[in-house]
Amino acid sequence: MTSVGIDAMEIWTGKLVLDLPNTFAPVKGEDPEKYTKGLGLHTSSFPDVYEDIVTMGANAAKQLMDRKGLTPADIGRIDVATESAFDNSKPVSTYIAGCLEQVYDGDFRHANKGERKFACIAGTQSLDDAYNWIKAGRNRGRAALVIATDTALYERGDPGEATQGAGAVAMLIDEDPDLVELSTEQGYGSMDETDFLKPNQQFPSVDGKRSMQVYLARMREALEDYESVAGRTHPDLFEYIPFHTPFPGMVRKAALLGFRHMTRDTDIEDDLEAEIGRQPREEDFETWDDYEEAIRGYMDELKTTEQYRDWYGRVIEPTLDISSRVGNWYTGSVHIARLSALIAAADEGKDMTGKQLLVGSYGSGAQAEIHAETVQETWLDEIEAVDVDDQLAARTEISFDDYELIHDVHNHEKEIEVEEFTQPEAEFVFTGWGRMNERRYEYVE
Ligand code: HMG
Repeated sequence: MTSVGIDAMEIWTGKLVLDLPNTFAPVKGEDPEKYTKGLGLHTSSFPDVYEDIVTMGANAAKQLMDRKGLTPADIGRIDVATESAFDNSKPVSTYIAGCLEQVYDGDFRHANKGERKFACIAGTQSLDDAYNWIKAGRNRGRAALVIATDTALYERGDPGEATQGAGAVAMLIDEDPDLVELSTEQGYGSMDETDFLKPNQQFPSVDGKRSMQVYLARMREALEDYESVAGRTHPDLFEYIPFHTPFPGMVRKAALLGFRHMTRDTDIEDDLEAEIGRQPREEDFETWDDYEEAIRGYMDELKTTEQYRDWYGRVIEPTLDISSRVGNWYTGSVHIARLSALIAAADEGKDMTGKQLLVGSYGSGAQAEIHAETVQETWLDEIEAVDVDDQLAARTEISFDDYELIHDVHNHEKEIEVEEFTQPEAEFVFTGWGRMNERRYEYVE
């Protein structure tokens, strides 16, 4: 069987940065540690005046194409995942293709283009679409370009405001990939939920606390569904477990739940018995509430054990680094978690070839998906070529007043003129609206 997966990836961060504990929290009258310790966030990225989901996506894609020496003729499909689209008909992928055609010889007339929507999980769904297209043998030797791009803004004053972010991830999906091969096995947890939605509105309606419960419930179902096809999971099987990361504190909860599930009836549960007892079993309780309370008590103890803390530090913590510096990138979020982990592995000099990742994607509304990935022999060259630290360090810091201005600039309901904070260089920029209200872009040398 052909091996299919991610051949290469690149990111493009919004070029502005807001310091959450030192700039945002004081104005909101909040303890900075709510951000650093509670949510696990330090800074978040915002798009400058001339940036949007198209420029960020096109810039990430151009970096990827340049690095891999690709031309439009090599790409048979462009799938964009976003929940920040500004057009209900014309997909963002056509805008991005239009940008790329300004700078490459040839065009993308032959390429199938689309736009995927299902909150944050759309990025992984696009990956799946590309995977299936190649597995079906319809790709005629061409690769797919998958771009997850979002400007994750909340209404000012909404609790979600703390978790905002903006950026794009571009991934090349191909046969015999250089980075990771995707498993055929996957598991789903999917249900009609009203926890986070944007019914014809730019900023989400959010039931924040419930959204966290829904995330955990769907993720547990996806794990069980994955196990039904791939067999039981065990913490020792996976070098890293990148989760969708709306903010790192959410992953702390998901990881604990995952560890408890994976260790049930294993040597690890036996080892922990003397210290914290065995996991509560549903059949030993008269009511579901009693059982849940016992589970909560067990988890409170589990998270203090050395076994859990060691596993969390090795397998989960390294996935959170980029997210803690950029905020929620919605569709790109789980993909920067994977990238974080592989960068950490490269920094530590780990040999990752053949190692497994378990990837937990999630989108509100709601659906979770779990699949495994196998790291390929050439992974280190791919990871060393991505300039995450340089990009994040090059961001321009903004004050709280600047933040409010930039939030207004990107608010579709407002029309305000604001000077850009940075000078574009060698990148696509938004230049204004055309005669049919389409957005227009050009490449600035
Ligand atoms: P909040 O009410 O502002 O925050 O909303 P909080 O008071 O719950 O505090 C957050 C955490 O910080 C808590 O930790 C506090 O204890 C802790 P927890 O108890 O949960 O472990 N904390 C502190 N820790 C140390 N020192 C302190 C301190 N103060 C507080 N001084 C909320 C938080 C997440 C609800 C809000 O930000 C929100 O509504 N966010 C948007 C929704 C969201 O991100 N949901 C996540 C799951 S849904 C999802 O992931 C999908 C999504 O990406 C969208 C999509 O799919 O498209 C959002």
